[in-house]
Amino acid sequence: MDKFIVQKSCPLKGRVKVSGAKNSCLALMAASLLTDEPIELSNVPDLVDVRTMAQVLENTGVEIDRSGPGKLRLDSARAKGLKAPYDLVRKMRASCYVLGPMTARKGKAEVSLPGGCAIGQRPIDLHLKGLSMLGAEITTSGGYIYVRAERLHGARINLAGQHGSSVGATINVLMAATLARGVTVLEGAAAEPEIIDLARMLGAMGAKVEGAGTNTITVEGVTSLGGAAHTVIPDRIEAGTFAVAAAITGGNVVIADCSPEHVQSVTDLLENLGVIIEKGRKTLLVKADGQMPSFEISTQPYPGFPTDMQAQFCALATQAEGRSVIEENIFENRTLHVPELARFGADIAVSGRKIIVRGPTYLSSAPVMASDLRASAALVLAALVADGTSEIHRIYHLDRGYEHLEIKLARIGAKIMRVSA
Ligand code: UD1
Repeated sequence: MDKFIVQKSCPLKGRVKVSGAKNSCLALMAASLLTDEPIELSNVPDLVDVRTMAQVLENTGVEIDRSGPGKLRLDSARAKGLKAPYDLVRKMRASCYVLGPMTARKGKAEVSLPGGCAIGQRPIDLHLKGLSMLGAEITTSGGYIYVRAERLHGARINLAGQHGSSVGATINVLMAATLARGVTVLEGAAAEPEIIDLARMLGAMGAKVEGAGTNTITVEGVTSLGGAAHTVIPDRIEAGTFAVAAAITGGNVVIADCSPEHVQSVTDLLENLGVIIEKGRKTLLVKADGQMPSFEISTQPYPGFPTDMQAQFCALATQAEGRSVIEENIFENRTLHVPELARFGADIAVSGRKIIVRGPTYLSSAPVMASDLRASAALVLAALVADGTSEIHRIYHLDRGYEHLEIKLARIGAKIMRVSA
């Protein structure tokens, strides 16, 4: 199993490029199931999750051609009724994105029940509620979900759950609704940039979608969709992670190929902490002196502060002056990085939904264990300011969602190395 060896590396300086958004790309790949014409994607990140989604799709007969760096051509002409097996779904919950499009186009889909994961229970009840309201018949047996429908029909569906809107349910039900008979109105829909990206590609395929990026999306179903060529939007969480890397190391970093408007909640907060942010059309300059006051944040659906940046800001809070309070409202158990940050010497504790961090603390190197994707990023950030040489184990979590993180960070001065055990 690979690990990172990281030495204190302050300040980071230079220019780093952001890759295509993992979360967008996974949805766009699943959308290829809606048509028998090819979908051509560009700016596709080279990530384990993307390869897992490719396996899920290939399993059902989708032909995937990696036609060049950052390019994928997906041809679903020969796709059959889908069975997404446990081995793939347990690796990546987004495998269940195939339920909506496959049911809409082929009338049936079978997907292993995803179960819980490190950051909480993560049910898919809202995905299933949406598909059922579109007329699908849903049964579960032997750990599998079976979805059947002759032809889906439009409906008014409220997708809001107890934690607010669901990104995954919005993606799944939106895709299904494009081929349903009649009009579907999704209320309480997620408004994340990844939903807008998906809606744009669906539009290019011939779907009639309005309101993506708001909490009400209207879809007028059509009988068939065509192919499209589409460029994946930049990864806003990767951009935000580089911004924190610059801030925590007192660095001066230009983050290129990003969408500054998608990380506004993150850059607004950093500006409030005294970090200099200069926005270009596709660039962000982040300049810091390593000193900052404590802060309070609360994770919310977009455009609020993203849960996927919570762990990275816990690392940053260890270097902020005073008591920071970081409230996690989306996933009940997203605190596994807390004991690991404490191993570096951080003064950090969980209290209900809140993570309390007192700083600034002197961090010293430690061997630590990554527990999930974003928690792993937080450990890398802490290791960049910890005295000595740290080891970060189980970085396969990072490889799911950060493209060549160690190579990109090394280019801006981080002393980080991958070691294969
Ligand atoms: C997506 C992102 C993930 C991000 C999350 C929140 C992908 C592949 N992953 O995950 O990186 O952290 O959005 O921005 O895009 N919920 C239910 N029932 C459901 C579905 C969700 O109760 O059927 C709950 C979840 O447990 C959670 C909340 O709703 O508490 C939000 O989850 P959701 O937006 O669905 O997250 P994902 O789509 O899984």
